[in-house]
Parts: sequence; C-alpha cells; structure tokens
Amino acid sequence: MSRSWPRRPRLCAGNWKMHRTAPEGAALARELVELLRARPGCEVAVCPPFTALESVAPALRGTGIWLGAQNVHWERQGPFTGEVSAPMLVSLGCRLVIVGHSEWRHGMNEDDATVARKLRAALGEGLTPIVCVGETLGEREAGRTAEVLVRQAQAAYSDLSQADSLATVVAYEPVWAIGTGKVASPEQAREAHALIRATLDRIVGAGTGERVTILYGGSVNPGNAAALFAEEEVDGALVGGASLEAASFWKIAVAASAPREQLRAGR
Ligand code: 13P
Repeated sequence: MSRSWPRRPRLCAGNWKMHRTAPEGAALARELVELLRARPGCEVAVCPPFTALESVAPALRGTGIWLGAQNVHWERQGPFTGEVSAPMLVSLGCRLVIVGHSEWRHGMNEDDATVARKLRAALGEGLTPIVCVGETLGEREAGRTAEVLVRQAQAAYSDLSQADSLATVVAYEPVWAIGTGKVASPEQAREAHALIRATLDRIVGAGTGERVTILYGGSVNPGNAAALFAEEEVDGALVGGASLEAASFWKIAVAASAPREQLRAGR
C-alpha cells in the first residue's frame, strides 16, 4: 500500500460532480495548472467525473496537483454494470477517491457498511480515500449531529489499523450546506472536526485524530474560505460549485495556504 500521503497536509480538493465533459475537464485543469504555477503551500486535488479522468490526467502530470475520483466500487472487477473499481482508477493516475458523499448516502441510499467497503477497497490499492461524513438539517435541528458523525466515523474506521487510518482524509460535509449557499460557521466546523478527531482516537487509537487531515465541505467559496481555514481544526476544503471555475478554486487554495495568524488577523 502506498504511504506517500504526507502527514496531516492542508488540502484543497475540488469535487466537480457531474460537470464537465472530457475536453472541458482538460481545459479547466490546464487553466488551474496555469494559476497554480507558483505552487501554493497546500496540497491541491481535483476529482473530475470518471469520463474526464483520462483527459485531465496528462494536464496534471508533473504539476503536483493530485487526481481523484468521485466514487469507487468495492470489488476489483466483476459483473457490476456501470461501476468502476479501484485498480481502474489507479491505472488512470488517480491518487484519491471520494467515498460516502452525501449525494450517495442520501441520493442513492448508500449505507455505512457500503462506505466502509469502498474505503477498504481504496486503501487496498493505495488510493487515499476522502471519507465524507455529515448530518442532515433535520438531524442537526433534532440535536443529533454528534450521534450521526460518531456513527458514520465508527462504521468507516472500526477495525482499521492506525497506519491505514492515517492514509485517509475525512471531509465533514453537513448535508444542509451542500449546494445551498448556507455555509457552516467556523464554530460549527471546529466543533464537528474536534468530535471526529476524538472519535478516531477512541476507535483507532490515541493520537490518530490529530494526525488525520479533516476538510470542511459545503458552499465553500472565496468569500468564506479564509474564516473557515483560520480554525486550527480545519485543514482545508472539499469544494463543489466553486471548483468549477479555475479562478475561484485557486483563490480558495491560496486561502488554504495562508498562515493561520494571517487568516485570523483578516477576520
Ligand atoms: P458545494 O461546494 O457546491 O456546496 O458542494 C460541496 C460538496 O458536496 C463537495 O463534495
């Protein structure tokens, strides 16, 4: 298994969702590479749709920008029409893969056990899984946020070794903030991230939580990113809509690279 993922890096990852054809994706990647020519002080990744992975990969080669996918099947191959496996993603140059995104959990009824299988399949091929967790609005309003985050983290990480756990990234994505323009407050993000770290310590072993990169996702844009990244707990972002424009994604990556004192002073 690859262990090349750096220790708790700050990371700005773009989730393009079902946007951009293969040529459009390559053009967006080239624009981004141009803007990021002076490498920012954070890791940067883009997760195009499956159909654009092969066209985006050459644009990113040698740039230090990581290529990721948005989903993976848990089996390596077999009769699974429409699915894509971890070895297939690796063969196209992917280093990361999103698992457990709310659009799968809530849109396709993906359960915790399935997320856990996908996470293990990714690790088995040396991919860095970005494990998404997050509560719905109803769960938050019912005071169940902690219960949901703990349950999702527990299902994903139970029985995982510390070495494997450290080869993952967590994305806290409150469902009510995704694509709604309603961003979580820095305090809400801080609280959720701290809870996830404490949960990893309990499930995997002491000292795990503080070493895992935890991203915030949900309506991040160049106007609200700095306030979120000023929080010690927030190691970067998983960006949807704002990652589809190279300039706005670049601004978020610049904010994710700034020293925290500078970000706090700008609040
Ligand atoms: P938006 O940034 O468009 O709210 O999407 C967030 C997200 O789902 C990233 O995975």
